[in-house]
Amino acid sequence: MGFLVGFMGAGKTTAGREVASRLDCRFIDLDDCIVARARLSVAEIFSKLGEREFRRRESQALLEVLRNAAHDSATLIALGGGAWPQPQNRLRIREFGGRVIFLDAPLPVLRQRCESGGAQRPLFADAASFEELYRARHEQYGTADVRIDTAGKAPGEVAEDIIAALQWDRTATQGEGS
Ligand code: S3P
Repeated sequence: MGFLVGFMGAGKTTAGREVASRLDCRFIDLDDCIVARARLSVAEIFSKLGEREFRRRESQALLEVLRNAAHDSATLIALGGGAWPQPQNRLRIREFGGRVIFLDAPLPVLRQRCESGGAQRPLFADAASFEELYRARHEQYGTADVRIDTAGKAPGEVAEDIIAALQWDRTATQGEGS
């Protein structure tokens, strides 16, 4: 089991998909799970139900994913930017086990990727609040097992860094990772 954590714009989903196609392993994007279950976009959940309710659903989705993935250890899970900073989520992941990989980049790079990415991000507002949130979370991201700097790297390069950090046996069939 592996977990990708990091701020908005870190490239967790893009790199995660790339890793999954290279390793032929399962990839789960936690935001996609929340959206599928709610039948609302992330932006709609924030605007209609509020951030608190989004966080509740996020923790619930994580729990379900961990339970379902328990028998498939070659699974990579990308968490939304706010999931790892929540103590109860960190605890659950640590109880479960697996490598936690922090995808990082300098703040201007993250901001630029969010501006050009097209994805709707309710917490991506003005530069000052983006920076404040980044600083507030950075310490928690730093408790991950591995930090990968993604600045200036193509998704394929980031994917190879993740594959090395996962320490899975590349020749192993699905279910034999750790
Ligand atoms: C959030 C990040 C988003 C999404 C939601 C909240 C956050 O995911 O979960 O908009 O709190 O940082 P990405 O990190 O994939 O953008």
